[in-house]
Amino acid sequence: MRKNVTKLKANEPDYGNWVSMRGLYTLGALAIFFLILSFVFLAGLAAAAAFLVAAAFFVALGYNTFMRYTFSPRGGNLEAQIREMVLDHFDWDGEGQALDIGCGNGPLTIAVAKKFPKARVTGIDYWGGTIFKNEYSRAYSKQACERNAQIEGVADRVTFQRASARALPFDDESFDAAVSNFVFYLVDARDKETLSKSRCESSRKAERSHFMSPS
Ligand SMILES: C[S@@+](CC[C@H](N)C(=O)[O-])C[C@H]1O[C@@H](n2cnc3c(N)ncnc32)[C@H](O)[C@@H]1O
Repeated sequence: MRKNVTKLKANEPDYGNWVSMRGLYTLGALAIFFLILSFVFLAGLAAAAAFLVAAAFFVALGYNTFMRYTFSPRGGNLEAQIREMVLDHFDWDGEGQALDIGCGNGPLTIAVAKKFPKARVTGIDYWGGTIFKNEYSRAYSKQACERNAQIEGVADRVTFQRASARALPFDDESFDAAVSNFVFYLVDARDKETLSKSRCESSRKAERSHFMSPS
């Protein structure tokens, strides 16, 4: 029995969570820091201000913990529901090559490959920056993408590549379609125009792109 549970876990894909544990730890540490500051080192108005800042961090911590739970399979799997919505709106015949920009651990790349059995799909991401550049950079990796693709049975039709959405390293019209999920809001406003332009150039038909992101 025990053996089976272990085996099942080893064969489960790991798609991570859009709310990183690192982010939660950071919020928790800041909340505690300002709380201690308000009680031990400050007095009067400064103490009240530090207390309010601590309270704000505790609220943010509570909200983000709730969102992490809601995004996870145990809490309703909102991430998977949003992914399904992106796929439902992805108007493509599945013939040719698709690009997933900012693929994380590859859930959308793999879902596109599973939905379109003839398609080849490339996922790009710039995994591995510092926390200041990108809070997700340590949570997601190319290695995890490749493992997930193996487990999901699409490894022969998907490729993962380190690249920045700001300068896609592909010739114009390399892809027949492009998707992206929850990435654009992380891109600086000044780079959004470049990104939109380059994804249209990379995709043979810009209208076959479906990009989903909070603003
Ligand atoms: C919220 S995660 C979404 C991951 C994935 N699309 C999904 O649906 O799970 C955002 C991802 O975008 C990536 N990302 C953000 N800005 C990027 C950029 N300029 N170039 C490449 N990847 C980027 C991050 O590294 C992260 O993996």
